[in-house]
Amino acid sequence: MHTIVTNFSRKVIVPEEGIKLKNEPEPVVRKKYEQEIDRILITKGCLEARITALALEISATFKRIKELDCYVILKGGMFFAADLIRALDEQSDIRTKLDFIKCSSYGNSSKSSGKVDLYKIDELQGENVLLIEDIVDTGKTLKILQEMIGKNAKRFKTCVLLDKGIAKDVQVDFVGFQIPRVFVGGYGLDYAGHYRGLPEIVVIRKELLKK
Ligand code: PRP
Repeated sequence: MHTIVTNFSRKVIVPEEGIKLKNEPEPVVRKKYEQEIDRILITKGCLEARITALALEISATFKRIKELDCYVILKGGMFFAADLIRALDEQSDIRTKLDFIKCSSYGNSSKSSGKVDLYKIDELQGENVLLIEDIVDTGKTLKILQEMIGKNAKRFKTCVLLDKGIAKDVQVDFVGFQIPRVFVGGYGLDYAGHYRGLPEIVVIRKELLKK
């Protein structure tokens, strides 16, 4: 049974069983993924509600600026960034700009390789910069990016949709959800290239994961 959440105005702590809105039906895994996905952790409605609130938090922090340069970490951050940036433009006076950083550390494994490959990092610029990432797990990816990008910006903030609460030495300014220590997919996040197109955050079955 999923927990019903009504307050999205601050970071939402997601319990093991998952969360849904009051008016959403109990979420079920699509038949084609039943063998691979254990359960739905965060429903589409909850993602939408928290992202709307995140956009308000961000615009309140960056108030009085004219332009915000948003840097999205590919590939996982793509769907989250698309919704967040549209919410920012819709709800605030801030003009947004968008660019991408391609970055990879997991390959086809469920464990971070510890080595973060970066492509396109030398052209980053902007006075007010928001780095947008899907998930902070070990924190290795974010730490490297924050060091490289943060030093060039006048004002620099980081926004992450999901945080497992593991990474201790990285600071994240805006967090959507704190999730349990499970391997998640959906809404841009993958396992071995799959599940990115799902509209919700799902838990991948343990038996599927390569060590
Ligand atoms: C995932 C995720 C983050 C990073 C987080 O990317 O999108 O960028 O790992 O892990 P960390 O906190 O342990 O560094 P991945 O390497 O799987 O690339 P992808 O986004 O292209 O799938």
